[in-house]
Amino acid sequence: MREYENLKFLSENREKQRSYYIPYDSLEKALKGKKEESKFYRSLNGTWNFKFFDNEIDAELENEEWDTISVPSCWQMHGYEKPVYTNVNYPHPVDPPYVPDENPCGIYKLDFELSKDWCERETYIVFEGVSSGMYLYVNGKYVGFSMGSRLQAEFDIKDYVSVGNNTICVKVLKWCLGSYLEDQDSFRLNGIFRDVYLLSREKGHLKDIKVTANTKEICVSAENFDIYDGNKLADMSKPILWNAEKPHLYTVVVKGETEYIPVKVGMREIEINENYELLINGVSVKLKGVNHHDTHPTQGYTISEEFIYDELFKMKELNINTIRTSHYPPTPEFLNMCDELGFYVIDETDIEIHGFATRRGGTIYNADQYPDEWICQREDWKEAFIERAKRMYERDKNHPSVIMWSTGNESDFGKNIIEMVDYFKSIDKSRLVHYEDASRTCASNIPDVYSRMYLSVPDLEETALDENISQPVFLCEYAHAMGNGPGDTYDYVEMFYKYPKIIGGCIWEWADHTVIEDGICKYGGDFGEKTHDGNFCVDGLVMHDRSFKAGSLNAKYAYQNIKVEFIEDKIKITNRFDFTNLSEYTIVLELTADGKVLENKEFVLDVEPHKSTEISNPFSVPECELSAYICLSLKNNKGQTVAFSEHKLSGGKRFNIESHPLQQINEDKRYIYIDGNGFNYIFDKVYGSLTSMKKQEKDLLAQPVKLTVWRAPTDNDRKIKYRWGMTEDSRSAENFNRLFNKVYSIEINKNVIIVEGSLSGVSRRPFLKYNTTYSFYDNGEVSVELRASVVDNCIAEFLPRLGFEFVSPITDEKFKYFGMGPEENYLDMCHHTRMGMYESRASQQYVNYIVPQEHGNHTKCRILEMGGGLCFRSNEDFEINVSEYTSEILENARHTDELKKTGFTHIRVDYKVSGLGSNSCGPELLKQYRLDEKEIQFKFYII
Ligand code: GAL
Ligand code: MG
Repeated sequence: MREYENLKFLSENREKQRSYYIPYDSLEKALKGKKEESKFYRSLNGTWNFKFFDNEIDAELENEEWDTISVPSCWQMHGYEKPVYTNVNYPHPVDPPYVPDENPCGIYKLDFELSKDWCERETYIVFEGVSSGMYLYVNGKYVGFSMGSRLQAEFDIKDYVSVGNNTICVKVLKWCLGSYLEDQDSFRLNGIFRDVYLLSREKGHLKDIKVTANTKEICVSAENFDIYDGNKLADMSKPILWNAEKPHLYTVVVKGETEYIPVKVGMREIEINENYELLINGVSVKLKGVNHHDTHPTQGYTISEEFIYDELFKMKELNINTIRTSHYPPTPEFLNMCDELGFYVIDETDIEIHGFATRRGGTIYNADQYPDEWICQREDWKEAFIERAKRMYERDKNHPSVIMWSTGNESDFGKNIIEMVDYFKSIDKSRLVHYEDASRTCASNIPDVYSRMYLSVPDLEETALDENISQPVFLCEYAHAMGNGPGDTYDYVEMFYKYPKIIGGCIWEWADHTVIEDGICKYGGDFGEKTHDGNFCVDGLVMHDRSFKAGSLNAKYAYQNIKVEFIEDKIKITNRFDFTNLSEYTIVLELTADGKVLENKEFVLDVEPHKSTEISNPFSVPECELSAYICLSLKNNKGQTVAFSEHKLSGGKRFNIESHPLQQINEDKRYIYIDGNGFNYIFDKVYGSLTSMKKQEKDLLAQPVKLTVWRAPTDNDRKIKYRWGMTEDSRSAENFNRLFNKVYSIEINKNVIIVEGSLSGVSRRPFLKYNTTYSFYDNGEVSVELRASVVDNCIAEFLPRLGFEFVSPITDEKFKYFGMGPEENYLDMCHHTRMGMYESRASQQYVNYIVPQEHGNHTKCRILEMGGGLCFRSNEDFEINVSEYTSEILENARHTDELKKTGFTHIRVDYKVSGLGSNSCGPELLKQYRLDEKEIQFKFYII
């Protein structure tokens, strides 16, 4: 056994955990709170000497030759070992507490000077995050040991340092017994990945500061302190409360002899009422959240303060008010920012032991059955669990943003976790305790909230109605945001508002995890890992560079703080803010017809939080061709739209072909020729489709038109795609991706061609029988009317899509459409878009998902006008997709650099495209968004 496999050796000489704070040398600096300005703080971030060893047993602290590495960082991001991405599985055998004998390690070394002033005081060194375990040496002497990657380790080094030059050496282990507690679904990386700094403390300094607050008073564990509001002493007779919308903070400054320690404090109270609502300062609040991991495409776990600020601002922009720090405590500065910007935080202990569920193969939580195998049940592991809860609590106890303590994630429900729940409950009565596995295993009375992940919308509703559940219902994870999606956020959030008992949830997860290598975004399997989980880490609500995708904007809509209902000529506006009057925003009403703004009005409405008001629609219904809409938006003082809602006022006029039927069309053995003034079309009797369309001598088609149902599966099609056709298994799929079109008969009647046919996948009976009527007119216009029926017992419960694919010979063709845009949208993921007349081109429709997949759809279209001359229209809403790629190209590429353009423009004119949902990890696509009707009629015009 090696030392770091010994459960009695969790740490050595590490300071008792205290709350996070920085001592300052003056009151002014303490109030300003810029730690770099404190004389008593010294960052050791920067370039360190570094030496990597394949096995820690061979590691030497003294080396002739050194590499250098930046601190903080993860060594895999600097070419020492490859990253490994695994989800549930441990990247090593499950043989606790033992880790592989070949245990790589990094030796870090830094010289620094200490002045006399410092040496006359007490010196501490603080490591905010080191994965997975560390031995510290100062000036050649061993100081101490720590594990717990995302927890703080502070060491008293006053007896080791002296005036002048000093040397720190840190031996960082890839694995230690703590690795068993850190089986979170993400890249497995190592190194000193968070800040390292020295603190200079006065002799006899305070060992800890505890600040608690409710809505009336602030209590401080120290004796000598003042409370400031900004730079002035606070008037505590009329306290200003903290909440996520208006995060007012006071600053408690604790004074020592020479040091000033600021602690920010927010006055707030958390309660659960008799309806199981979550009350913040007495107000029922919905948690509109997201799960946040520390992940960066080139820095791994290391995320700078600027980067975090940027992330939090983006969350604010998406109307997110809650963060679950999945699945470990973030860097303490993260929580400072949450206090300051206003977020409710579920702070999670650095514990996940999911890999025990797969230790015998399969995926089964069976800690009850195998208490000797599951470390969450074992007495000898108890302290290893508990100390992580204690360290998190002690570090983070002063943050107003933290409203729940979470004991960890996916670790089944064993005795050691019950101990942790008990610990949090006994130490902190002012916050709630969370643990999802307790609720899943029906031990829900133990933590304070009934927390589940990935319940479907109907199951969530059933849970809300279940009278046996007498706790607030919370989805710690929902709307799995992998790839194109999630589609279902809106339906979930409506459910949050429908039932008081549902207090909200957190979308899984904030950002895509990837590692950029050679300019390519990589994921599991790209690094020769022994085990990996492919692209399951690429599941962010925002892209890896934190840019928004359609799913982000759709979530922004779902989370927005107004609900608007258009009831005849009245508009009812409900304020969903919890603490903000709508009068802090400007309301803009806009009338549009055929995509053009006709009128708008701006005004301010005084609506208290959670209250509604009704105004009358000031516009009369305008004349229009296509349709007219009214849109209400909420703008902030920067003019940015924070919420909007659009409503159709009129459906416009019906389109009809006005010219005359063609007198005659000619045929030979194979083709039908449709010629008229300025156009020549050819219809292929074998394929039963238009194969050439020339207008004014210009070819509009590069390939025959096809009726198809396939789309390049999205990540959320992960399961259904095996019934659609992504499998060799001869029984489970309809094989839509290997399609045969059979023409049974072609009938020609004056200007009309009627095709009877069917579609079948290879080896299957036809799944779709159709009858398509093409009518040709003397100005070249064509009407196409499809009647189709889907067989009963189709293996796939619903089709990916159904429609016609046109291929235009023009590269990157421009086009205009009247429909939902400008971003891509699908039946379910459409709330973020508005009806309009948009201009675009094929290349602009491309969405850069790390794993190429279906994208770029537009719903509710009425017109699609291609730059090259093809133009489609319908009186019914149809869906369009214009791309430089075929579905097959998208489907076959695993990374974006594998995509090759065809040089053509691929146009889909679809009856319908199934929605997206979030079935990559969440439930099946909701019924209302599936293309599952058996009888289909679709008529459109080519004009
Ligand atoms: C959950 C888990 C997350 C993540 C997600 C899938 O079960 O808690 O950590 O693995 O599934 O992306
Ligand atoms: Mg897991």
